[in-house]
Amino acid sequence: MITAGLLAWLGAPRLIAWRSAPDSEGGTDQIQAIHGDDLYQPSVGQDGKNVIWVPTQDDLMQAMLEALNIQPDDILYDLGSGDGKIVINAAQQYNINAVGIEYDPQLVELAKRNAARAGVEDQTTFVRGDIFQEDFSNASAVALYLLPELNLKLKPTILSMRPGTRVVSNTFDMGTWPADTTIELDRSTRAYYWVVPARVQGRWQLEDSTNNTVGELDLRQEFQLVGGEVVINGEVFTILSGRMEGEAITFTYGHRTANGDRSHGSFQGTVRADRLQGTLNKQAKQQQLTGRLRASQRQGLT
Ligand SMILES: C[S@@+](CC[C@H](N)C(=O)[O-])C[C@H]1O[C@@H](n2cnc3c(N)ncnc32)[C@H](O)[C@@H]1O
Repeated sequence: MITAGLLAWLGAPRLIAWRSAPDSEGGTDQIQAIHGDDLYQPSVGQDGKNVIWVPTQDDLMQAMLEALNIQPDDILYDLGSGDGKIVINAAQQYNINAVGIEYDPQLVELAKRNAARAGVEDQTTFVRGDIFQEDFSNASAVALYLLPELNLKLKPTILSMRPGTRVVSNTFDMGTWPADTTIELDRSTRAYYWVVPARVQGRWQLEDSTNNTVGELDLRQEFQLVGGEVVINGEVFTILSGRMEGEAITFTYGHRTANGDRSHGSFQGTVRADRLQGTLNKQAKQQQLTGRLRASQRQGLT
Protein backbone atom coordinates (compact mmCIF):
# COMPACT_ATOMS: atom_id res chain seq x y z
CA MET A 1 0.00 0.00 0.00
CA ILE A 2 1.11 3.51 -0.68
CA THR A 3 2.58 5.72 2.00
CA ALA A 4 2.08 9.43 2.55
CA GLY A 5 5.68 9.89 1.38
CA LEU A 6 4.86 8.36 -1.94
CA LEU A 7 1.78 10.50 -2.23
CA ALA A 8 3.98 13.55 -1.72
CA TRP A 9 6.35 12.20 -4.32
CA LEU A 10 3.49 11.64 -6.78
CA GLY A 11 2.90 15.35 -6.54
CA ALA A 12 -0.23 17.23 -5.64
CA PRO A 13 -2.60 17.10 -8.59
CA ARG A 14 -4.01 20.31 -9.94
CA LEU A 15 -7.71 20.25 -9.34
CA ILE A 16 -8.60 22.87 -11.89
CA ALA A 17 -12.28 22.34 -12.54
CA TRP A 18 -13.64 24.06 -15.53
CA ARG A 19 -15.81 23.21 -18.44
CA SER A 20 -16.02 24.96 -21.74
CA ALA A 21 -17.98 24.45 -24.89
CA PRO A 22 -16.20 21.99 -27.15
CA ASP A 23 -14.79 23.50 -30.33
CA SER A 24 -13.95 21.68 -33.51
CA GLU A 25 -10.25 22.43 -33.20
CA GLY A 26 -9.74 20.39 -30.04
CA GLY A 27 -7.21 21.63 -27.54
CA THR A 28 -6.87 22.18 -23.86
CA ASP A 29 -9.90 24.45 -23.53
CA GLN A 30 -12.00 21.31 -23.82
CA ILE A 31 -10.53 19.52 -20.85
CA GLN A 32 -13.05 17.99 -18.47
CA ALA A 33 -11.48 18.17 -15.05
CA ILE A 34 -14.50 17.06 -13.07
CA HIS A 35 -13.94 15.16 -9.85
CA GLY A 36 -16.67 14.82 -7.22
CA ASP A 37 -20.35 15.78 -7.20
CA ASP A 38 -23.16 16.22 -4.69
CA LEU A 39 -23.45 12.48 -4.22
CA TYR A 40 -19.78 11.65 -3.75
CA GLN A 41 -16.58 13.64 -3.20
CA PRO A 42 -13.51 11.42 -3.46
CA SER A 43 -10.36 12.52 -1.61
CA VAL A 44 -7.04 12.64 -3.39
CA GLY A 45 -4.90 9.87 -1.88
CA GLN A 46 -7.80 7.71 -0.76
CA ASP A 47 -7.16 3.98 -0.71
CA GLY A 48 -7.65 1.90 -3.80
CA LYS A 49 -7.17 -1.84 -4.21
CA ASN A 50 -3.54 -1.76 -5.37
CA VAL A 51 -2.93 1.97 -5.58
CA ILE A 52 -4.49 5.12 -4.19
CA TRP A 53 -6.62 7.50 -6.25
CA VAL A 54 -4.73 10.48 -7.60
CA PRO A 55 -6.17 12.01 -10.78
CA THR A 56 -3.80 12.68 -13.65
CA GLN A 57 -3.25 16.43 -13.89
CA ASP A 58 -4.96 18.16 -16.80
CA ASP A 59 -1.97 19.21 -18.88
CA LEU A 60 -0.31 15.81 -18.60
CA MET A 61 -3.57 14.05 -19.48
CA GLN A 62 -3.81 16.22 -22.57
CA ALA A 63 -0.23 15.40 -23.56
CA MET A 64 -0.88 11.69 -22.97
CA LEU A 65 -3.99 11.75 -25.17
CA GLU A 66 -2.11 13.59 -27.89
CA ALA A 67 0.75 11.08 -27.74
CA LEU A 68 -1.76 8.27 -28.33
CA ASN A 69 -2.63 9.85 -31.72
CA ILE A 70 -6.22 8.70 -31.31
CA GLN A 71 -8.12 7.72 -34.46
CA PRO A 72 -11.91 7.41 -34.90
CA ASP A 73 -11.96 3.60 -34.61
CA ASP A 74 -9.81 3.46 -31.49
CA ILE A 75 -11.04 1.98 -28.24
CA LEU A 76 -9.24 3.48 -25.26
CA TYR A 77 -9.08 1.80 -21.85
CA ASP A 78 -7.98 3.50 -18.66
CA LEU A 79 -6.89 0.80 -16.20
CA GLY A 80 -7.83 2.15 -12.78
CA SER A 81 -10.05 4.89 -14.15
CA GLY A 82 -10.79 6.84 -10.95
CA ASP A 83 -13.31 9.64 -11.56
CA GLY A 84 -13.30 8.81 -15.28
CA LYS A 85 -11.50 11.93 -16.49
CA ILE A 86 -9.24 10.22 -19.05
CA VAL A 87 -12.07 8.09 -20.45
CA ILE A 88 -14.44 11.07 -20.60
CA ASN A 89 -11.91 13.40 -22.22
CA ALA A 90 -10.89 10.78 -24.78
CA ALA A 91 -14.53 10.13 -25.70
CA GLN A 92 -15.42 13.80 -25.86
CA GLN A 93 -12.37 15.23 -27.60
CA TYR A 94 -11.84 12.43 -30.11
CA ASN A 95 -15.39 11.08 -30.45
CA ILE A 96 -14.32 7.51 -29.71
CA ASN A 97 -15.53 4.73 -27.45
CA ALA A 98 -13.62 4.51 -24.21
CA VAL A 99 -13.74 2.18 -21.22
CA GLY A 100 -12.60 2.57 -17.63
CA ILE A 101 -11.90 -0.33 -15.29
CA GLU A 102 -12.04 0.71 -11.65
CA TYR A 103 -12.18 -1.34 -8.45
CA ASP A 104 -13.80 1.28 -6.22
CA PRO A 105 -17.59 1.10 -6.77
CA GLN A 106 -18.18 4.69 -5.66
CA LEU A 107 -15.64 5.98 -8.18
CA VAL A 108 -17.28 3.84 -10.86
CA GLU A 109 -20.70 5.37 -10.16
CA LEU A 110 -19.20 8.87 -9.97
CA ALA A 111 -17.44 8.32 -13.32
CA LYS A 112 -20.74 7.26 -14.91
CA ARG A 113 -22.44 10.42 -13.63
CA ASN A 114 -19.48 12.54 -14.79
CA ALA A 115 -19.74 10.95 -18.23
CA ALA A 116 -23.47 11.69 -18.38
CA ARG A 117 -22.86 15.33 -17.38
CA ALA A 118 -20.20 15.59 -20.08
CA GLY A 119 -22.66 14.18 -22.63
CA VAL A 120 -20.61 11.07 -23.44
CA GLU A 121 -22.53 8.36 -21.60
CA ASP A 122 -23.22 6.51 -24.88
CA GLN A 123 -19.53 6.36 -25.76
CA THR A 124 -18.19 5.41 -22.35
CA THR A 125 -18.34 2.28 -20.24
CA PHE A 126 -17.16 2.00 -16.65
CA VAL A 127 -16.58 -1.52 -15.43
CA ARG A 128 -16.38 -2.18 -11.72
CA GLY A 129 -13.60 -4.73 -11.56
CA ASP A 130 -9.96 -5.59 -11.01
CA ILE A 131 -7.55 -4.66 -13.80
CA PHE A 132 -5.76 -7.99 -13.23
CA GLN A 133 -8.97 -9.95 -13.81
CA GLU A 134 -10.88 -7.98 -16.44
CA ASP A 135 -10.37 -8.49 -20.16
CA PHE A 136 -9.14 -5.40 -22.03
CA SER A 137 -7.73 -7.20 -25.06
CA ASN A 138 -9.98 -5.23 -27.44
CA ALA A 139 -8.25 -1.97 -26.50
CA SER A 140 -6.23 -0.22 -29.19
CA ALA A 141 -5.01 2.43 -26.73
CA VAL A 142 -4.36 2.00 -23.01
CA ALA A 143 -3.79 4.60 -20.29
CA LEU A 144 -2.16 3.80 -16.95
CA TYR A 145 -1.45 5.69 -13.76
CA LEU A 146 -0.53 2.94 -11.36
CA LEU A 147 2.79 2.01 -9.75
CA PRO A 148 6.06 0.56 -11.09
CA GLU A 149 5.34 -2.97 -9.83
CA LEU A 150 1.79 -2.89 -11.20
CA ASN A 151 3.09 -1.84 -14.62
CA LEU A 152 5.53 -4.77 -14.50
CA LYS A 153 2.72 -7.14 -13.57
CA LEU A 154 0.65 -5.88 -16.52
CA LYS A 155 3.60 -5.91 -18.95
CA PRO A 156 3.21 -9.52 -20.22
CA THR A 157 -0.51 -8.94 -20.85
CA ILE A 158 0.16 -5.69 -22.66
CA LEU A 159 2.94 -7.23 -24.77
CA SER A 160 0.55 -9.99 -25.84
CA MET A 161 -1.97 -7.45 -27.14
CA ARG A 162 -2.44 -6.74 -30.84
CA PRO A 163 0.74 -5.27 -32.34
CA GLY A 164 0.24 -1.55 -32.76
CA THR A 165 -1.67 -1.10 -29.50
CA ARG A 166 -0.49 2.19 -27.95
CA VAL A 167 0.12 2.60 -24.25
CA VAL A 168 0.74 5.66 -22.10
CA SER A 169 1.68 5.62 -18.44
CA ASN A 170 1.68 8.60 -16.11
CA THR A 171 4.96 8.73 -14.13
CA PHE A 172 5.92 5.04 -14.18
CA ASP A 173 7.85 3.10 -16.81
CA MET A 174 7.89 -0.58 -17.77
CA GLY A 175 11.29 -1.62 -16.46
CA THR A 176 13.31 -3.28 -19.21
CA TRP A 177 10.84 -2.35 -21.97
CA PRO A 178 12.14 1.06 -23.02
CA ALA A 179 9.59 3.74 -23.85
CA ASP A 180 9.24 4.82 -27.47
CA THR A 181 8.70 8.37 -26.28
CA THR A 182 8.97 10.15 -22.96
CA ILE A 183 6.56 13.02 -22.47
CA GLU A 184 8.05 15.51 -20.07
CA LEU A 185 6.21 18.61 -18.94
CA ASP A 186 8.76 19.43 -16.26
CA ARG A 187 11.31 17.52 -14.18
CA SER A 188 8.70 15.88 -12.00
CA THR A 189 5.85 15.55 -14.51
CA ARG A 190 6.31 12.92 -17.14
CA ALA A 191 4.62 10.07 -18.91
CA TYR A 192 5.86 7.25 -21.10
CA TYR A 193 4.56 6.01 -24.43
CA TRP A 194 4.97 2.59 -26.06
CA VAL A 195 3.65 0.81 -29.12
CA VAL A 196 3.22 -2.95 -28.73
CA PRO A 197 5.68 -4.47 -31.20
CA ALA A 198 4.94 -7.44 -33.46
CA ARG A 199 7.09 -10.50 -32.83
CA VAL A 200 9.77 -10.86 -35.46
CA GLN A 201 12.53 -12.84 -33.82
CA GLY A 202 13.60 -15.76 -36.00
CA ARG A 203 14.95 -16.67 -39.45
CA TRP A 204 13.11 -15.30 -42.45
CA GLN A 205 13.53 -16.37 -46.08
CA LEU A 206 13.46 -13.37 -48.43
CA GLU A 207 11.99 -13.59 -51.92
CA ASP A 208 11.73 -11.08 -54.74
CA SER A 209 8.55 -10.35 -56.72
CA THR A 210 9.15 -13.43 -58.94
CA ASN A 211 9.39 -15.70 -55.88
CA ASN A 212 13.16 -16.19 -56.22
CA THR A 213 14.96 -16.52 -52.92
CA VAL A 214 17.33 -13.56 -52.65
CA GLY A 215 18.46 -13.84 -49.09
CA GLU A 216 17.69 -14.36 -45.48
CA LEU A 217 17.04 -12.36 -42.37
CA ASP A 218 18.13 -13.60 -38.98
CA LEU A 219 16.41 -11.31 -36.51
CA ARG A 220 16.91 -10.96 -32.80
CA GLN A 221 14.46 -8.84 -30.89
CA GLU A 222 14.34 -7.09 -27.57
CA PHE A 223 10.93 -5.48 -27.35
CA GLN A 224 10.89 -2.84 -30.14
CA LEU A 225 14.64 -3.09 -30.84
CA VAL A 226 15.78 -5.41 -33.60
CA GLY A 227 19.26 -6.65 -34.49
CA GLY A 228 20.81 -9.56 -36.31
CA GLU A 229 22.00 -10.19 -39.85
CA VAL A 230 20.68 -9.90 -43.35
CA VAL A 231 22.08 -11.91 -46.25
CA ILE A 232 21.43 -10.34 -49.66
CA ASN A 233 22.63 -12.18 -52.78
CA GLY A 234 25.19 -14.07 -50.71
CA GLU A 235 26.62 -11.03 -48.93
CA VAL A 236 26.24 -10.92 -45.15
CA PHE A 237 25.45 -7.59 -43.49
CA THR A 238 24.85 -6.59 -39.90
CA ILE A 239 21.58 -4.95 -38.98
CA LEU A 240 22.77 -1.63 -37.62
CA SER A 241 19.63 0.02 -36.32
CA GLY A 242 16.48 -2.02 -36.36
CA ARG A 243 13.17 -1.07 -34.85
CA MET A 244 9.57 -2.18 -34.66
CA GLU A 245 6.66 0.21 -34.36
CA GLY A 246 3.70 -2.14 -34.05
CA GLU A 247 3.75 -4.14 -37.30
CA ALA A 248 6.17 -1.76 -39.03
CA ILE A 249 9.80 -2.82 -39.22
CA THR A 250 12.66 -0.55 -40.25
CA PHE A 251 16.39 -1.20 -40.27
CA THR A 252 19.60 -0.07 -41.85
CA TYR A 253 22.21 -2.66 -42.67
CA GLY A 254 25.91 -2.58 -43.41
CA HIS A 255 29.19 -3.38 -41.73
CA ARG A 256 30.58 -2.46 -38.36
CA THR A 257 34.13 -1.23 -38.85
CA ALA A 258 36.78 0.06 -36.48
CA ASN A 259 35.92 3.58 -37.69
CA GLY A 260 32.19 3.23 -37.10
CA ASP A 261 29.22 1.86 -38.98
CA ARG A 262 29.28 1.76 -42.78
CA SER A 263 25.68 1.67 -43.95
CA HIS A 264 24.84 -0.06 -47.25
CA GLY A 265 21.12 0.32 -47.33
CA SER A 266 17.86 0.19 -45.49
CA PHE A 267 14.62 -1.76 -45.30
CA GLN A 268 11.09 -0.66 -44.45
CA GLY A 269 8.31 -3.18 -44.21
CA THR A 270 5.35 -4.67 -42.41
CA VAL A 271 5.19 -7.87 -40.41
CA ARG A 272 1.97 -9.84 -40.01
CA ALA A 273 2.33 -13.15 -38.15
CA ASP A 274 4.78 -15.24 -40.25
CA ARG A 275 4.75 -13.00 -43.32
CA LEU A 276 6.75 -9.88 -44.00
CA GLN A 277 6.76 -7.50 -46.93
CA GLY A 278 8.68 -4.38 -47.66
CA THR A 279 11.20 -2.44 -49.69
CA LEU A 280 14.94 -2.90 -49.64
CA ASN A 281 16.79 0.30 -50.55
CA LYS A 282 20.36 0.02 -51.75
CA GLN A 283 21.99 3.10 -53.24
CA ALA A 284 19.41 4.43 -55.70
CA LYS A 285 17.77 1.01 -56.23
CA GLN A 286 14.67 -0.30 -54.58
CA GLN A 287 13.57 -3.91 -54.45
CA GLN A 288 10.22 -5.23 -53.23
CA LEU A 289 10.71 -8.26 -51.01
CA THR A 290 8.50 -10.67 -49.16
CA GLY A 291 9.61 -12.73 -46.21
CA ARG A 292 8.45 -16.04 -44.79
CA LEU A 293 9.27 -17.03 -41.24
CA ARG A 294 11.31 -20.27 -41.41
CA ALA A 295 12.37 -20.83 -37.84
CA SER A 296 10.49 -18.92 -35.25
CA GLN A 297 11.85 -18.26 -31.82
CA ARG A 298 8.90 -16.96 -29.90
CA GLN A 299 11.00 -14.74 -27.72
CA GLY A 300 12.05 -11.15 -27.74
CA LEU A 301 9.14 -9.74 -25.78
CA THR A 302 9.70 -10.82 -22.24
C1 LIG B 1 -3.53 6.89 -9.45
S1 LIG B 1 -5.26 6.63 -9.70
C2 LIG B 1 -5.43 7.05 -11.44
C3 LIG B 1 -6.85 7.45 -11.81
C4 LIG B 1 -7.02 7.76 -13.31
N1 LIG B 1 -6.52 6.71 -14.14
C5 LIG B 1 -6.30 9.04 -13.66
O1 LIG B 1 -5.19 8.94 -14.24
O2 LIG B 1 -6.82 10.12 -13.39
C6 LIG B 1 -5.36 4.84 -9.72
C7 LIG B 1 -6.76 4.27 -9.70
O3 LIG B 1 -6.66 2.84 -9.80
C8 LIG B 1 -7.66 2.26 -8.98
N2 LIG B 1 -7.23 0.88 -8.70
C9 LIG B 1 -6.28 0.48 -7.82
N3 LIG B 1 -6.10 -0.85 -7.91
C10 LIG B 1 -6.99 -1.31 -8.83
C11 LIG B 1 -7.30 -2.59 -9.35
N4 LIG B 1 -6.65 -3.70 -8.97
N5 LIG B 1 -8.27 -2.69 -10.29
C12 LIG B 1 -8.94 -1.59 -10.69
N6 LIG B 1 -8.69 -0.35 -10.24
C13 LIG B 1 -7.72 -0.21 -9.33
C14 LIG B 1 -7.72 3.18 -7.79
O4 LIG B 1 -8.97 3.05 -7.10
C15 LIG B 1 -7.55 4.55 -8.46
O5 LIG B 1 -8.79 5.10 -8.80
